Amino acid sequence: MNNRVDDIVKSNEWNGEIEMKEEIKMDKVIEMDKAIEMDKAIELKDLNKSYQNDDVTVEVIKNVNLDIYKGEFVSIMGPSGSGKSTLLYLMGGLEKPTSGAVKVDQKNLHQMSDGEESKLRRNSIGFVFQFYNLIPHLTIEDNILLPVLLNGGKKNDYKERLKHLLDIVGLCDKRKSFPTRLSGGQQQRVAIARALINDPDILLADEPIGNLDSKTGNEIMDLFKKINEEEGKTIIQVTHSKESAEYSNRIIYVKDGAIA
Ligand SMILES: Nc1ncnc2c1ncn2[C@@H]1O[C@H](COP(=O)(O)OP(=O)(O)OP(=O)(O)O)[C@@H](O)[C@H]1O
Ligand SMILES: [Mg+2]
Repeated sequence: MNNRVDDIVKSNEWNGEIEMKEEIKMDKVIEMDKAIEMDKAIELKDLNKSYQNDDVTVEVIKNVNLDIYKGEFVSIMGPSGSGKSTLLYLMGGLEKPTSGAVKVDQKNLHQMSDGEESKLRRNSIGFVFQFYNLIPHLTIEDNILLPVLLNGGKKNDYKERLKHLLDIVGLCDKRKSFPTRLSGGQQQRVAIARALINDPDILLADEPIGNLDSKTGNEIMDLFKKINEEEGKTIIQVTHSKESAEYSNRIIYVKDGAIA
């Protein structure tokens, strides 16, 4: 018996087996790394953002490394002026970093042409802001369709999408109405539908309930949760409200431009 073990240890048969197992293990590791990479919706790498005001450089985002995975609902919290909005705008390509990389769906936003970048942004990311930024003289449905119309798309091609979104945000009966006739919560629902018109994978929201009372705010958070769970969207919101942050799966704290 021992002889057999010795023989095996000395022989290529044994070494071969170890090598084979190592190879399989390495393949698995590489496969898993790739799978993890593919699961990332947004990746921030050594990200810095500073502003130059006269002779003073203000460092707003300092060496941030952060991965957001597909399907996550993340809240960003932190004191006023800590850099939350700047971080969100960097993620969505509305701001350019001073150094470092922003990857959306594994593609580096700032290593592509302006055309490619805006196409990726348009198709992959929807934005929702604290103030709804609706166009007062356009109907609710035209407000929702605005990103399509501005992009030269045809209203007719989006009939089904529009109907689906009006249904999700609960405004089917208001489609021909105008923003000024809607409550704040309803206007934010329109803004959310507009952000989703191109069916982006990621929804970025900067204090989406900052302007709403707490009951309406909770209704909007229920809607976000539904969009996250039923539509499979990755959501990242900036919020000052602990209660609204509890709707998300992960809370990221920002302090002085860094992840706390
Ligand atoms: N264009 C700019 N030039 C100079 N400084 C700026 C500029 N934009 C933002 N800042 C500074 O960057 C810092 C972070 O701003 P940011 O708007 O990201 O904060 P915030 O965490 O979103 O705050 P709040 O909770 O009040 O919205 C602030 O100190 C702000 O003054
Ligand atoms: Mg802000």
